[in-house]
Amino acid sequence: MFDYTRMERVLSSGSLAHILAGMQTNNTLSNWLAIDRSAIAENLRLLQDLTKTRVMAVIKANGYGHGIVEMARVAFSSGVAFCGVSRLEEAIMLRQAGIEGSIMVLGYTPAYGFDQAFANDISLAIFNPEYVPEIIAAAKRVGRKARIHIKVETGMGRLGAPPEVALELLRLLGHSPEVRLEGIFTHFACADDPSAPATAAQEKIFAEVIRDATAADLRPELVHAANSAATLTRASTHFDMVRIGIAMYGLAPSDAIQLPQGLRPALTWKAQMSMVHSLPQGSGISYGHTYITKNVERIGVVPVGYGDGYRRVDGSEVLVSGRKVPVVGRVCMDEIMIQLDQVPDAKVGDEVVLIGKQGDETIKVKGLADLWGTINYEVICGLSARVPRLYYG
Ligand SMILES: Cc1ncc(COP(=O)(O)O)c(C=O)c1O
Repeated sequence: MFDYTRMERVLSSGSLAHILAGMQTNNTLSNWLAIDRSAIAENLRLLQDLTKTRVMAVIKANGYGHGIVEMARVAFSSGVAFCGVSRLEEAIMLRQAGIEGSIMVLGYTPAYGFDQAFANDISLAIFNPEYVPEIIAAAKRVGRKARIHIKVETGMGRLGAPPEVALELLRLLGHSPEVRLEGIFTHFACADDPSAPATAAQEKIFAEVIRDATAADLRPELVHAANSAATLTRASTHFDMVRIGIAMYGLAPSDAIQLPQGLRPALTWKAQMSMVHSLPQGSGISYGHTYITKNVERIGVVPVGYGDGYRRVDGSEVLVSGRKVPVVGRVCMDEIMIQLDQVPDAKVGDEVVLIGKQGDETIKVKGLADLWGTINYEVICGLSARVPRLYYG
């Protein structure tokens, strides 16, 4: 069985925390994520050394599945300048958990969120000049400065002000005593494909905005643009800070981009076998009986399913006793069935690895992503809230 003794339990949801706090051992868990904090810390240090610039650790979507609060703790203790989230509610959750470092909301914040944001010293992305009076009024009301980053739309076709509007926003906010104009930023659409010309085109537009802002004496302290892909492939996009998501978790932004030596994944997904049985030839397995045993077969039942983020796609494999074994029949909400003929000694309580290493074998996030017809980002962000996160290292 897996050795849990060195693991600290840090739990992501209140009710789950309450239930698990009453459990005597982690052996009662069905499936769980074991997350190596030291891997995240070392990845972040390595990326800071490599870029020699400030780093924003992007921990939105529950820290890319790794747990938002714990990722914020690790990131700040590893020296990052900012943690980036997508939504105000994520930022507030971090403040409520006692996280004190600089937090930026990268996405849209409606005006009715400004008071709460500024009262909690949370930096906001702003791209709409109509919000300027609301920003100033909210900062006055709560008696705190509004920490603002202007978002420039340079070719992502998503959030952001066109260059002219961004410059107008700088003029409107730049001299307001209620505002701390902290940053200006953009986001690349195609940086994960280093051969795509779009990144250079976006960088050019952004650099022109920065040039004009500087000429007007309105350049904010933090100019930032690069996600993981741009950070690893285009040093000219580093400016004053890079915003790193996927690479801090030890995963590559795409097949076209090699991770630097030393970066490593932090997450292992495990479960414990809940039943092993021998079924006669011709037995149907799981909903729809899409798998029928060919002989007498040993079938294991593993308590993980699409309700945990394990996709309902045929052909996945898991590790048991250091061997890859196939998932057979349909993935259920809470269970999968696996074929155990290669591991005749497998028994109830055995550790089953869904992502990560066991013995000499590894199941990579990327391998599952390919099989499931998606990208590594979606696999880890899809790990559901009910799966306990256990931290070590
Ligand atoms: C605005 C912004 N910056 C940075 C990132 C980090 O991207 P990545 O995980 O590719 O490093 C994201 C993630 O999607 C983002 O939306």
